[in-house]
Formats: sequence, structure tokens, C-alpha cells
Amino acid sequence: MYFCGAQKFMADSIYISHTLAGKKERYEALIPQVRALVSGEEDFIANISNIVAALKEAMSFFWIGVYFVKNNELVLGPFQGPVACTRIQRGRGVCGTAWNEKRVIVVEDVEQFPGHIACSALSKSEIVLPAYKNGEVFLVLDVDSEQLAMFNHDDEKYLGEIIQIIESL
Ligand code: SME
Repeated sequence: MYFCGAQKFMADSIYISHTLAGKKERYEALIPQVRALVSGEEDFIANISNIVAALKEAMSFFWIGVYFVKNNELVLGPFQGPVACTRIQRGRGVCGTAWNEKRVIVVEDVEQFPGHIACSALSKSEIVLPAYKNGEVFLVLDVDSEQLAMFNHDDEKYLGEIIQIIESL
């Protein structure tokens, strides 16, 4: 039997104990595994794909993925979850606003966010974090939940660490 990434660990085995019920504990168990997952691989898309898959698996998010800044719009990149809008204009929706205003946006109730783009009617709350290269946003990480007010400062902190990993790729 051959395992990919066998020099470190099985790449298909993100391990989060079932006893880790808390979100913080799950992020803290996950983040070192994400670092290990991307170390030794230099392909950016491969690494982003595994990062979003690991987050989906560990955190059971409804939807998680990235949008890349391309030709002054956002274009869908690797994601996990239901099919999504492929292009978002600058300043539109939560993603386009996070990009335009260069800030993390936490939305407790998407129906209260002016211009929210509903890729799924099931999505109720959302967090979007920009990643930067040379001071400019080059992608946004978007996470959606089927529950209201799912995201808070803990998500901002730990997903911020994921953004740092992405920026270092
Ligand atoms: N809700 C986002 C669009 C992307 S999907 O949620 C995957 C927005 O308003 O920008």
C-alpha cells in the first residue's frame, strides 16, 4: 500500500478526536495538521484544496472555499460544499465587500447584510477573511453556516491563522 505524503503522515487522515467538542479545541488540533499537510508541497492549488478539505472535515462547515482576485473580480477557487457562484464583483456581497474594504467580515444573519449573495438558501451566517500579497488582497476565504450567528472572535482568530498559512505558501 502507498500513502501520499507518507514521509509525514497519511494525507487522508486529518485526526480530530471526537472528544474535542469545543470549536477552539478543534481548531487547535487542526492547525498543526494543516501546517504539516502543506509542508513539502509547493503547488498552490493543491495546498489550498487540501486546506479547505481539512477545514470542512474537521469543523463540519456547510460551505468553505476561496475566491481568487482575477482581472478585478473574484473567481471561485477550491471549495467544499454545494456548488457556488463563480464570479463576484468588487464591492458586491460579503466577499466583494471584504476584498474592497480589506477587512474581515462576520455576518450573524446574512439576510441583514445589504447585498448578500445567496449561493445557497440554506446559508444563514458567514465569515470572510482576505489574504494579502504585497499589501493587496489576492484571495478571500469564505465560510458559510446553516446556523445563525455561527462565527465569532474564535473563528476570526483561528481562521486568521489559516490565512497566515495561505499567505506563506
Ligand atoms: N455569500 C457570499 C457569496 C459566496 S457564497 O456564500 C459561497 C457573498 O455574499 O459574498
